[in-house]
Amino acid sequence: MGSTPNGIKIVGLAPELNHSFYGRDIISVGQFSRPDLTYIMGVADEMRSVVRRVGATDLLKGHILANLFYEPSTRTSSSFIAAMERLGGSVIPIHGVQYSSVSKGESLPDTIRTLECYADVIVLRHPEVGASEVAARYATKPIISAGDGVGEHPTQGLLDLYTIYHELGTLDGLHVAMVGDLKHGRTVHSLARLLRLYDARLTFVSPEILRLPEDVKRELAAAGRIVTETDKVEDVIAAADVIYVTRVQKERFADLDEYEAVKDYYVITPKIMARAKEHMVLMHPLPRVGEIHADVDNDPRAAYFRQMENGMYIRMALLAAVLGKA
Ligand code: ASP
Ligand code: CP
Repeated sequence: MGSTPNGIKIVGLAPELNHSFYGRDIISVGQFSRPDLTYIMGVADEMRSVVRRVGATDLLKGHILANLFYEPSTRTSSSFIAAMERLGGSVIPIHGVQYSSVSKGESLPDTIRTLECYADVIVLRHPEVGASEVAARYATKPIISAGDGVGEHPTQGLLDLYTIYHELGTLDGLHVAMVGDLKHGRTVHSLARLLRLYDARLTFVSPEILRLPEDVKRELAAAGRIVTETDKVEDVIAAADVIYVTRVQKERFADLDEYEAVKDYYVITPKIMARAKEHMVLMHPLPRVGEIHADVDNDPRAAYFRQMENGMYIRMALLAAVLGKA
């Protein structure tokens, strides 16, 4: 059985299936070492080949995932469902919490206690930073964060890292530029934190009011990473190996005038891409709302649709790992 800082997690599987991920929560990318990441990406590769060859397996047959979303989602929710079903398991989908007992005032701890009576693993997206940690404190089954407010989106960070590796064949020696809403972008926080483990150079491109949080910058500096900030994509377009573009997160602004002032700050067009390296990768966690022009979509360097597909393989790997089957 796996244990977590919150206590022992029992997931009803045989003890001989013990593994370092077995029974663990996935709350923050800070919990992964480089060997952990290599391992998860290797399992994701195996999942890709299973899906490509036969579509599905029965590895998690008899297991149930509760997919609990307090915020909107297309990719994360549906890729977790697809991941669980392709592994032979099934899903309790709670995607409109307004139709659940949350609307009667039920607390997060009680909702988690309820779902773990029926499920072996719970995926949680919530608007508050730290909500997944709270859930994990009350749960005896693994909690996987699907994004907590402006905090982290660890499974997205993992699929982003996996995408870079897949597209460029390495994670070391790269110049990664992250563009857009770096303040509220939880996917940026997770990917930047993961990159501290690799020999990456990082450039953060944003308007002044959307700069990367200081704590993330401090982590990168402590890990010895070279970090530069600018508000111009032009400063980095020709040098970057990865350009990771993000949406300005309208839902996180208290003052909508501030949002209006910055929402169209960056738009990646074919003209801008003409100045980028021939072998580089353009990424976006999606959804996009204008930051990457549709005319860029057929550029072979545009990896955002492949990035989405990679999410399913990474989530298959994570589900198998926390349930002791990887
Ligand atoms: N889908 C990602 C998230 O939930 C990025 C975004 O919404 O802009 O964080
Ligand atoms: N990338 C991502 O988290 O997408 P969704 O918000 O659609 O899940």
